[in-house]
Amino acid sequence: MTLSNGSQDKLFMAYQEKIQQFQFDDAVASVFSDMIKRSVPGYENIISMIGLFTQAHARQGTNCYDLGCSLGASTLAILGNLEHKDCLVIGVDNSSAMTERCQNNLGQFYDSTKFRICCEDIQNTKLENASVIVLNFTLQFVEKAERDALMKKIYQALVPGGVLILSEKILFDDPIKNQLFTDLHHGFKKAQGYSNLEISQKRSALENTLIPEPTGDHLQRLSNAGFTQADLWFQCLNFASFFAIKS
Ligand SMILES: C[S@@+](CC[C@H](N)C(=O)[O-])C[C@H]1O[C@@H](n2cnc3c(N)ncnc32)[C@H](O)[C@@H]1O
Repeated sequence: MTLSNGSQDKLFMAYQEKIQQFQFDDAVASVFSDMIKRSVPGYENIISMIGLFTQAHARQGTNCYDLGCSLGASTLAILGNLEHKDCLVIGVDNSSAMTERCQNNLGQFYDSTKFRICCEDIQNTKLENASVIVLNFTLQFVEKAERDALMKKIYQALVPGGVLILSEKILFDDPIKNQLFTDLHHGFKKAQGYSNLEISQKRSALENTLIPEPTGDHLQRLSNAGFTQADLWFQCLNFASFFAIKS
């Protein structure tokens, strides 16, 4: 089960005199499915692989968390791959525009006893008895200074053998490589039908909101949190996904 594309993202199509900071508000939530597919190369591959990680790591009687669940694309991938394990799937997002839609989306396919959707800051969410935790393009929106504490909380919440899947936009230490991938990402978005104006206005809106980090910083944070097994499993241009398993 997957989400439909919903309405087409035209939010940055018209020229804006002053670009407001990007927010996950009602306008964004109403086009988000289309927006993320046309903005993040490899997004749909990552979603389906979250299903495979779930098959391999979800344990009977545990919780599976989707932190920053938005409309529930990853939550659905988890729910669809539990293979009759008695797990509770918990989606968390601090945008009510997202959680209200997410609740409806999941309710179309699953009984409400199988999942819980919470509107709250993932930094305040109590995490426990987890065999799968997904942070799919969410950590990049958390204050950099708060990321270590969140990762430690995630590590503590996982049961042995539990997995974290962390997907992020990434930076490169080499500025030439950074520019190369930024330009290629721009090309990807143009191929998806976005105009130069849409691309540049959205980039400005995200400027101080989405803060990417290099791969090495992510792996170091995972190691500092306690993970001994962590690696990059997917990269397409400047978008990457990591897994980390608790021993
Ligand atoms: C790029 S979207 C995530 C996409 C989603 N995980 C998916 O796979 O389709 C980022 C989401 O994280 C949420 N978010 C950002 N910071 C958050 C926080 N501190 N607590 C809870 N949710 C947060 C936003 O509201 C937004 O819905």
